[in-house]
Amino acid sequence: MKELIEKLRAKAIEELASSDDIEALRIKYLGKKGELTALLRGMGSVSPEERPKIGQMVNEMREYLEQAIDKKKTELAEAALEAKLAAQTLDVTVPGKEIPVGRRHPLAQTERTMRDVFVGLGFTVAEGPEVEYDYYNFEALNLPKNHPARDTQDTFYITDNILLRSQTSPVQVRVMENKKPPIRIISPGRVYRADPADASHSPIFHQLEGLCVDKGITMSDLKGVLELFAKRMFGENTRVRFRPHHFPFTEPSAEVDVSCFVCGGKGCRLCKGEGWIEILGAGMVHPFVLSNCGIDPEEYSGFAFGVGIERVAMITLGIDDMRLLYENDERFLSQF
Ligand code: PHE
Repeated sequence: MKELIEKLRAKAIEELASSDDIEALRIKYLGKKGELTALLRGMGSVSPEERPKIGQMVNEMREYLEQAIDKKKTELAEAALEAKLAAQTLDVTVPGKEIPVGRRHPLAQTERTMRDVFVGLGFTVAEGPEVEYDYYNFEALNLPKNHPARDTQDTFYITDNILLRSQTSPVQVRVMENKKPPIRIISPGRVYRADPADASHSPIFHQLEGLCVDKGITMSDLKGVLELFAKRMFGENTRVRFRPHHFPFTEPSAEVDVSCFVCGGKGCRLCKGEGWIEILGAGMVHPFVLSNCGIDPEEYSGFAFGVGIERVAMITLGIDDMRLLYENDERFLSQF
């Protein structure tokens, strides 16, 4: 009997060490139909003197097995927990995944800055169609058919009378047709010309038109507004220069330069040694245009200007090739 107990014990220890199915082992040894119970049933064949001794041994063995099984259970549970923890490690010091954030295109940034200056002066934003009638783009602006100045603004025609606007100036006409003075609007937008693309030309580009009509508006109002605009865009020390020019829809007309904000006027690479950079066309609204729109030129006067947005973006951001603005190359765009 003693040997049987020892044998069973050795077998149990061995199985316990090699098996992970603890519950099966517990049933096998300690269960009601288990090996230990079977052993106790065999007590009948043990002599009365030996019975207490054997009984004690069996109890000891039961206790031993119970403890060993508990211990193994705890060990397995701990190992499982450890494995789980190792698999689910969360390193809070690992840098997060970068979420790319977009930003405004440099042209849109420039347009916004320009717009903000004029909105701050009380101008509101007006819009006009990009597919425009010849009448608004040319005729009403004192550019009749066959006028030679049309050559400089050759554009794309849909029909003889419908075209892609070559300037934002037609918005002037549309606004004046619909609203009586006082008028103070700007109109940023896309314009088209039949120019092949190169470093400084593009068949599609952008302008910002300005128009102010009221009683007693003079050239000095135009100068004041454009001077303030120039200082806001290019720095407080910027000076403005008006050069006589000709536009059919303004009289007098001027091309407007700003003093170079890189060299301050001494001459450098940006201003090509000139000290001045041309940024826009402007003038007093031609009486012909006012009366075309039903505004009496005897009663009212106004000024208008048109700025190239690409031009302003390129000189303020230091971009030397216009085509870069349209290529949507993220390596370029992310610099601004
Ligand atoms: N529309 C003119 C151009 O594209 C610019 C301009 C606008 C000139 C308003 C005078 C007044 O060249």
